[in-house]
Amino acid sequence: MTTRKKPNNLWVSRWGFILAATGSAVGLGNIWKFPYMTGEYGGGAFVLVYLVCILAIGIPIMMVEIGYGRRGRGSPIDAIRRVVKESGRSSGWSVLGWMAMLCGFMILSFYVVVAGWSVSYLWKAISGGLNADSVDGMAAIFGANNASPLNLGFWSTLVTVTTMLIVGKGVQDGIERNVRWMMPGMVIMLAIMIVYAMFSGGFGQALDFLFGFELGKLSSAGLLAAMGHAFFTLSLASGAILTYGSYLPDESSIARTTFTVAICDTLVALMAGLAIFPVIFANGMDPASGPGLIFMSLPLAFQQMPFGTLLEIIFFVMLTMAALTSAISMIEATVAWLNESKGISRTKAAWGTGIVLWIVSTLAMLSFNVGADWTLAGKTFFDWLDYLTSRWMMPLGGLGMALLAGFVLRNEVFKAELGLNNTHYALWLFMIRYVSPLGIVLIFIDALGIMTL
Ligand code: PFF
Ligand code: NA
Repeated sequence: MTTRKKPNNLWVSRWGFILAATGSAVGLGNIWKFPYMTGEYGGGAFVLVYLVCILAIGIPIMMVEIGYGRRGRGSPIDAIRRVVKESGRSSGWSVLGWMAMLCGFMILSFYVVVAGWSVSYLWKAISGGLNADSVDGMAAIFGANNASPLNLGFWSTLVTVTTMLIVGKGVQDGIERNVRWMMPGMVIMLAIMIVYAMFSGGFGQALDFLFGFELGKLSSAGLLAAMGHAFFTLSLASGAILTYGSYLPDESSIARTTFTVAICDTLVALMAGLAIFPVIFANGMDPASGPGLIFMSLPLAFQQMPFGTLLEIIFFVMLTMAALTSAISMIEATVAWLNESKGISRTKAAWGTGIVLWIVSTLAMLSFNVGADWTLAGKTFFDWLDYLTSRWMMPLGGLGMALLAGFVLRNEVFKAELGLNNTHYALWLFMIRYVSPLGIVLIFIDALGIMTL
């Protein structure tokens, strides 16, 4: 075998990768999307299907991505190119790296808007701006926050600038240094919220709702949503995990780290459910209130409870930290690529990328006010970014990376990189060749509307 490329960077501590990758995985997907999806798709049935998708699609593909990253030691484009070259295959496969990098950028362009909601709500909670006595009143506050492009743009810009500042500082001094305190911090805050929720009076009902499995509630829409969400929540096919994997020391076990990250991500999603739903139920509110769940129902519920404002502040600090540690991972692929391949300094790469990001995210932000009717096929620009990435680019990228690893590359490559015993390797290969691709194809069939299950 040829001598392997040296890593461009390495995590400082043994926990560096786990903290950074968990930071990437745990985000708005867990605390904002997962609870409202569970609410909409009927609770326990959705949770169960979601867990199966994490296990059958998410985990095998995450191993693939970390494998490409560490084997190729570079940003998605370069890493994949090196890995296919090692097997003597066409460098055209690096198109998968391009798509992943673009996907991460596109997700971040709308993610900063939602993260901006979180920061603006933190400010409202602190300054007493979250006062309303009905869901309609809270909806009016949400609407007013969105109505002014200057206001909304201010908050999303703040998120963009913070993200680029951290990423510009580098893998160790920027990313690792920040995830090292933000991740434990957010888990502690989440734990405080759960303890509070236990005494709210709605905890039993929330447990029933999250874990009470009713077969009748299992819908095909819920199944497909769960599958798509498995990609999003584990940050797959967006360049993030692959690039972080390129900084993983040779001696770390890819299988073990993958399981750790996936389990932490799942636990945080369930914990978020346990923090949010008791409060919702205790105040007799609807768990199926959609994307507005944590921005309308939750603050209203808190308002009616002791220490409500304090809990609101804790909640939005936690949400903001979760969003930031994900945001930095989405843009790391681009910054690493500009730095490694184009020789641009990280600081310059970060600011250059940040400017383009700011322009695209501003367009996404405008979808909530002046651009609300700039629609195409009924979707705003914000909706398109979300739809294209979740429904198409992530599943397609995941499919491509799985098939490449499963059928095209020489078997020794992943066998060596994953370091699995024969049984585990055979199981992994079966998942990556057949099970994950089949699941992904179902997402496409649904997205194309060819067939509704
Ligand atoms: N996993 C993140 C979440 O659940 O909020 C979202 C995400 C992060 C998607 C990084 C893609 C990515 F590259
Ligand atoms: Na997640």
